[in-house]
Amino acid sequence: MTTTLSPVLSATWGAQRPWSLSTYESHDGYQAFRKALTMAPADIVTAVKDSGLRGRGGAGFPTGLKWSFLPQPDGGPRYLVVNADESEPGTCKDIPLMMASPHLLLEGVAITSFAIGCNHAFIYLRGEVVHVYRRLLQAVEDAYEKGYLGKDVLGSGYDLDVTVHAGAGAYICGEETALLDSLEGRRGQPRLKPPFPAVAGLYARPTVVNNVESIASVPAIIGKGVDWFRSMGTEKSAGFGLFSLSGHVVRPGQYEAPLGITLRELLEMAGGVREGHELKFWTPGGSSTPLFTAEHLDVPLDYESVGAAGSMLGTRALQIFDETTCVVRAISRWTDFYQHESCGKCTPCREGTWWLKQILHRIEDGEGTREDLDTLLDVCDNILGRAFCALGDGATSPITSGLQYFRAEFEAHIDGAGCPFDPAASALFP
Ligand code: NAI
Repeated sequence: MTTTLSPVLSATWGAQRPWSLSTYESHDGYQAFRKALTMAPADIVTAVKDSGLRGRGGAGFPTGLKWSFLPQPDGGPRYLVVNADESEPGTCKDIPLMMASPHLLLEGVAITSFAIGCNHAFIYLRGEVVHVYRRLLQAVEDAYEKGYLGKDVLGSGYDLDVTVHAGAGAYICGEETALLDSLEGRRGQPRLKPPFPAVAGLYARPTVVNNVESIASVPAIIGKGVDWFRSMGTEKSAGFGLFSLSGHVVRPGQYEAPLGITLRELLEMAGGVREGHELKFWTPGGSSTPLFTAEHLDVPLDYESVGAAGSMLGTRALQIFDETTCVVRAISRWTDFYQHESCGKCTPCREGTWWLKQILHRIEDGEGTREDLDTLLDVCDNILGRAFCALGDGATSPITSGLQYFRAEFEAHIDGAGCPFDPAASALFP
């Protein structure tokens, strides 16, 4: 496995005005779409299937397989919805990708829409990121003007409209069916699955919902080929992705690398943990993935290896914490987030996250008991696998893994009647 690659998603990030259509075109932009328009749509689906591309939103579901779940055309509409509602604590890859390369996303939207027989695609974005919204609107306008979108795209006879929709800013709307409800104008709450969106999605029509980075990976697969894509990453986790390093790291930011790279290798690129300090714990894929410690520095960051080591690759949001960080405080802040963002539809998540929050604050404030630690695990057990969607499960991950690796630190808060850490030293959870 190689740890380097010529950047693909971030290829133009160092260029002047990388977001502009002219810069994108000067880097072979929209050439893959031109090629796709000469292909049979089914062959594009097969290529993406054969490439092994897996959903980059966190779950890692095979992208081409998801497309192939769409039923046979019945003359009615079918939709592509891009999930750009990035909200997981620590996850920060789609926003820079859309800011720097909006046309890469639009080219992916165009190819995917053509492949699945969709004439109207939607990009659902968080409402708070107005700068990204404006950037996408401009890119869509420019793409219409140049004939990449609209009626009879590039003289092919194919019509495609793209709508950018800004949500109101709720974490739950990143859950694909809550997103669809929100897009339809309802309060965003998850739907029961099945039926999966592929069968009954937006307006109850067949719909493909894919993450920004998944769709942005499609032009390179069509342009450079399946073998090229499969030459990177591992057998079951092919290709490349953006790894977002944040926290106590010398050069935080986006690092594009083949799947299967390790945190040790990424830290070498990012200048290491801040000087004079050492790694204590980290998240492989945002705060909803079980914590890793310094023991896991050499775990290949692919779906299988991270899973075998007890966590999930998730969104490759690597939040790095050194020894100054109180693990109880970090987990308590994340739990505040999940409790606040729980949509309230199902009891285990609505009530469970509230209880988790109360208990964690009690422990953090030095008012907890040793029994509280077992109660925390019991509440987690009553959420895990019993909540309506992945939000509840995600809320339990830092707690169960935190207790697995750092139980002594929880006990120190209880026995010492308070937090032994100075929050100013870590500065990440003031
Ligand atoms: P999931 O595993 O239930 O589904 C993944 C995708 O595969 C969905 O699009 C689903 O429709 C499709 N799918 C699964 N089984 C299918 C079937 N039998 N037929 C047709 N389609 C099928 O996971 P989910 O709930 O969509 O996502 C959970 C993940 O989201 C977590 O693992 C987490 O990493 C990630 N996440 C990402 C966030 C972000 O900000 N990017 C925020 C929170 C969570």
